[in-house]
This record gives sequence, structure tokens and C-alpha cells, in this order.
Amino acid sequence: MSEEIKKTQVSERKKRIFSAIQPSGTITLGNYLGALRNWVKLQDDYDCIFAVADLHAITVRQEPKVFKQNILEAYALLLACGIDTDKSMFFIQSHVHTHAELAWLLNCYTQFGELSRMTQFKDKSQKHADNVNAGLFTYPSLMAADILLYQADLVPVGEDQRQHLELSRNIAERFNGIYGKTFTVPDAYIGTVGARVMSLQNPIKKMSKSDENVNAWVAVLDKPETIMKKFKRAVTDSDAKVCVGEGKDGINNLIGIMSAVTGKTSDEIAEEFDGKGYGDFKTAVGEAVIEELRPIQERFEKYVKDKAYLEEQYRKGAEFALKISQRTLDKAMKKIGYLPK
Ligand code: TRP
Repeated sequence: MSEEIKKTQVSERKKRIFSAIQPSGTITLGNYLGALRNWVKLQDDYDCIFAVADLHAITVRQEPKVFKQNILEAYALLLACGIDTDKSMFFIQSHVHTHAELAWLLNCYTQFGELSRMTQFKDKSQKHADNVNAGLFTYPSLMAADILLYQADLVPVGEDQRQHLELSRNIAERFNGIYGKTFTVPDAYIGTVGARVMSLQNPIKKMSKSDENVNAWVAVLDKPETIMKKFKRAVTDSDAKVCVGEGKDGINNLIGIMSAVTGKTSDEIAEEFDGKGYGDFKTAVGEAVIEELRPIQERFEKYVKDKAYLEEQYRKGAEFALKISQRTLDKAMKKIGYLPK
């Protein structure tokens, strides 16, 4: 692993960040602008640890062949987005056995009542009523293990994971309270907030790949024609003026995307499109997004074909992750009273 990470471990100058993403098969423009692009930026100022959370993914049923490909592709896509294994540690969760082990321990310091209050559990158990498995229920203790194993100071998470992070903090504090300081209690990373990208079809809802209307979301790997088609079909309003305004959720969202991609402010965008119609504006947003994603798509195509390169990267990540996380696991086990091997 890089000298940079080793150095920061000694001097403790940089704060440590942990985050992970599930290999869902589709990473959307919302995931990219809202989270991934920020991870890439964080790499210069923090000691970053990123993972593909494939253990979390089996809380819903996965088709083995597709799942395997999704894990590899998620890894390749994050590299293509700019996760740099010379700067950050980047691994696949299931390759590092300490995660499942600490998750078990933490399960025993997590209350049934706490897990029952998780809104994501409530939502998902309604959505997958035929498969409300114990993993879906204890999902947050695995997430706590991910974070606590690396003594992360900060965790960049979206709104939907806030409650899980809060629970991770409570678990850490509880454990520390019983056994003395064992885990760093992680804070939510509140920095440059990523763009909140909304559905292109119903712009009061967050963009999500689980939306049954495929026109509602853009995938990072969508073909340029597809991206353009989806933007052209984006729902707007009858006001026909490109500017931020109340009741203009569709246009507000497109301006937000345009601003995130080009770095221009909403006012600059409104000025640029003053007197122009929504059609022109949608085309311009489509083009800007296509250009933003083009280099990522090109890198992805290169990486995904190079299995040897990917293997080298994720092995290096897992090896380093195991070293760091094993220390924390050993420490926790010792405190609980387990006999050393
Ligand atoms: N549960 C997160 C999600 O679905 C992914 C995740 C797993 C994660 N472990 C984590 C996020 C640890 C932050 C920290 O988005």
C-alpha cells in the first residue's frame, strides 16, 4: 500500500474516512454526483478506505452469475470513477473475513428494539415480504463492523444511511462503555454535500435505480443515446423559463445536475438559457452529462476487460484491509475475554 497511508498512520495527521457501496448492478448518476465523485475528491485530504459491500448485498436474493459479475463491475466502475488505489485502500468486503466476525460480536451488543426501529428495515421488509431474513434485520451491525474495524473518524453517508450510522455510534459507545476505549466513535462526514439528484420522471423523489420507470434514472454506464433520450423525456413544467423556482422541481433538478457537472452556478445557467426553451436546455444537460461520463465509461471498458489488473488491485486492498482490521478485531475479542489463539 502507498507510502502516503503508512505515513499518516504514524503521524495521525489525516482523519480516516470509511465508506462503502453495494454492488447493485446499476450505479446511477445520482450515486455518482451525490457520493462517488466526492469520495474521489476526499482522497487527497483524508486517509480513505472504500469497499464494495457485497456481504450486505445478499440480504436480498442474488442470482450467482449475475452477482459475481456485479461485484467485479462495481469494483471496476469505482476505479473508473477515480478511486485511486495508490492513495486509498479499496477492497471487496467479502474478501476480508474480519467484517463478518466483528459483525457477529457486535450483534450481541445491539438490541432487538434498536434494529426494529430502523426505517430501512421496515421499508425493505415490506418490499421483500417473502424474504424478511435475519440478515436484513442485522444489516446495521455489519455496517457498524465495517466502520469500526478501521477506527474511522468520518463516514460520508446519504440521508438514507444516517440512522444506520447513528446506530454504529451507539454500538461503539456502548462497547467502549463496557470495556474501555476500543472503537473510535465515527461522525457523519458533513462537507461539500454532493448534489441531490432527483428522479427525471417524478422530481420530488430521489433518483433511484429501483424506480420501475427506467426513464426516471440515468446509469453511469448508460449509452450516450440513452442518456440523451432520458433527459429529453425529463418531466418539467409549463412555465418554460429556465430558472430555479418554486413548483419547478423538474427544472430545479436539471439545473442542479447541470451545475454539478459544469461547476456553473444556477444563476449563470439561468442567464445562459435566458430566452431559450426547455428543449434546448434538456439537450444541453444531456450533452454535459454525456461528456462528464464519457471518460469514466472509457476507463470502465478498459478495466473490466483486464481481470488481472482488477485482481491485483482488489487483492492488494484486501491484504491491507485485513492487516488493519485484524488489529481491531483482536483488541475487541481480547476485551470480551476470548482466549488468544
Ligand atoms: N449500507 C450502505 C448502502 O447501502 C453501504 C455500506 C455498507 C456502508 N457498509 C457501509 C456505507 C459502511 C457507509 C459505511 O448504501
